[in-house]
Amino acid sequence: MNLNGLDKSRLPRHVAIIMDGNGRWARLRGKSRIEGHRRGRASVRAVVELSRRLGIPCLSLYAFSTENWLRPKDEVHALMSLLEHYLEAEQPKMVRHGIRLMAIGEKERLPPAVLRTLEHAERATRDNMGMTVLLALSYSGRNDIVKMVQTMARKVQEGTYKVEDIDEAMVSAHMETGSIPDPDLLIRTSGEMRISNFYLWQIPYTEIYVTPTLWPDFREREYLQALLEYQRRHRRFGRTDEQVNQSLHTAKGGR
Ligand code: IPE
Ligand code: IPE
Ligand code: MG
Repeated sequence: MNLNGLDKSRLPRHVAIIMDGNGRWARLRGKSRIEGHRRGRASVRAVVELSRRLGIPCLSLYAFSTENWLRPKDEVHALMSLLEHYLEAEQPKMVRHGIRLMAIGEKERLPPAVLRTLEHAERATRDNMGMTVLLALSYSGRNDIVKMVQTMARKVQEGTYKVEDIDEAMVSAHMETGSIPDPDLLIRTSGEMRISNFYLWQIPYTEIYVTPTLWPDFREREYLQALLEYQRRHRRFGRTDEQVNQSLHTAKGGR
């Protein structure tokens, strides 16, 4: 694999992807939107595969938002059935490759057959330590926050902990992403400069990469480009360049 100078010691620990543009991809070719979603599956395979080969520990894939339920019935139906088949087809590979699959979002809204396949895949891969794929299905960043607030309020009410005990780490732990580290890199395909209700709490210092490439065209090469761009970014976390360079120096000197 030609990594074009990618530094394997500075890979993101968590990449999150808003997989957008299937409909436009199809329209450009005079095909149905559903054909676009079908083609998008090969891109999912490509990013999971490359992440695993590179050793990126966590990959989040935004596959279906809460708002996507508002789409025409036949499109929703097709998406659900594609999801079910994807899970069935990929599960053995995930088991073989040590990939843990975790779904986040309102699972209870999924059709029963999809839910069964999903839970089966989650169970079968539960103990895998190689890499985690977080599949966001019927996910809403705001809803994730609302549920976190409800859980914490309940715990305070029950006396499990005091209001003053609540801190950022506790909030993070109560989000659906739980102990998964915040994404270092968020990719959105198809050029849209918005979050569309994906992760909200989890992305305070996440590097954002938007590419005009439509999701069905986003494959290994485009993913590598995003990772290279990520490595060119200078993350400051609110400090000055000088401070960041200084602390890099100290860290190196200390080794
Ligand atoms: C992303 O592609 C897939 C889902 C949101 C489920 P779209 O279906 O949103 O494609 P565009 O944005 O209409 O091109
Ligand atoms: C975001 O794409 C949701 C997913 C990729 C699953 P949308 O196509 O639904 O987003 P908007 O409507 O353009 O913001
Ligand atoms: Mg879209």
